[in-house]
Amino acid sequence: MPPPDLLAVPSEYEGPAVCPQLEGRPRAAQSRPREEALGFAVEVADFDLLVLGDCNPDVMVIGEQLEPMFGQAELLVDEARLVVGGSGSITACGAARLGLRTAFISVVGDDVFGRFMLDALARRGVDVSGCVVDRERPTGLSLVLLRRGGTDRAILTAPGTTASLTRDAVDPDLMAAARHVHVSSYFLQEALRPDLPSLFDAARAAGLTTSVDPNWDPANAWDGGLRELLPRSDVFLPNAAEATRIAGGEPPAAATALAADGPLVVVKLGEHGALAVLGNDVWSVAAPRVDAVDATGAGDSFDAGFLAGFLAGWSVPRAAAFGCACGALSTRALGGTEAQPTMEEALAGLEAAR
Ligand SMILES: Nc1ncnc2c1ncn2[C@@H]1O[C@H](COP(=O)(O)OP(=O)(O)O)[C@@H](O)[C@H]1O
Ligand SMILES: [Mg+2]
Repeated sequence: MPPPDLLAVPSEYEGPAVCPQLEGRPRAAQSRPREEALGFAVEVADFDLLVLGDCNPDVMVIGEQLEPMFGQAELLVDEARLVVGGSGSITACGAARLGLRTAFISVVGDDVFGRFMLDALARRGVDVSGCVVDRERPTGLSLVLLRRGGTDRAILTAPGTTASLTRDAVDPDLMAAARHVHVSSYFLQEALRPDLPSLFDAARAAGLTTSVDPNWDPANAWDGGLRELLPRSDVFLPNAAEATRIAGGEPPAAATALAADGPLVVVKLGEHGALAVLGNDVWSVAAPRVDAVDATGAGDSFDAGFLAGFLAGWSVPRAAAFGCACGALSTRALGGTEAQPTMEEALAGLEAAR
């Protein structure tokens, strides 16, 4: 049962309960009664959400003229900032900001960037006790070049520990204590990827639900065993370009093809909102209009919002519209996490989109 503050808001979005595919599935293991605290009978796990994913800072460089020139030429830009980056970290921060009890497992290096990230996540209320420090490799880092006044960006990434997460590093107790496990940046998770089908099988057997955000595939291969993972995923969360590259065709056809493998497929369409497909059912939802400053991580904030709705048992279109509100609101500031909405702000954003 969702927390009472979520239940208090009437659902105006028509559609079936968000996870009809969950009928008859076992409940999350190791949940414990909280009747006393809540005043009514309900069993909950320790965490709503466990995110497995990438954890690196972004160095945002903002200016008019950003093309670097070799020959040791020095260019002055308007500003540069070190911010929380990595899709997994941004999703975890977004979920915690919405009030979900969120745990995050990732690998960082034994360096200032790794410490910056773990500290920033912990300050935002994310449980990072399951994160692993790799003493051999540095923390990954992205250099994001953002043209002043536009939302397009160029990104240079040093993967560092980004691909180092392995199944062995996923604490089984932490997983058993969660209601849902989300994997971000599937294509970047090279060490974890081969073990994800069995990990998702184990998660589902323990009563958890599962989701994946593929994000971009820098290798441009767009498979890597994904088709084996989709039947074990309750939700698949690509953006339009990713859905098209994975399944071919325009987003609606790509989403339908991907949904044939079993999951609820939610395709993020930037300022146009999102498209959700479950079996033969299709929903389109709009994003609220915002003055976007920087869309870095919008899809990851969308994931946090969508999963909050999913875990609250909302209808598919309402959870998708809520994801849109969270994605859109996150674009109001530089970086992925600074403008992530609270539950109250996101619900107001949901109203504004209707
Ligand atoms: N310019 C924008 N205006 C309003 N909403 C936006 C804008 N950009 C992104 N969003 C919201 O964020 C979500 C994710 O953004 P998108 O760019 O599609 O994903 P990704 O970041 O994965 O590429 C969208 O579905 C939309 O709801
Ligand atoms: Mg994305």
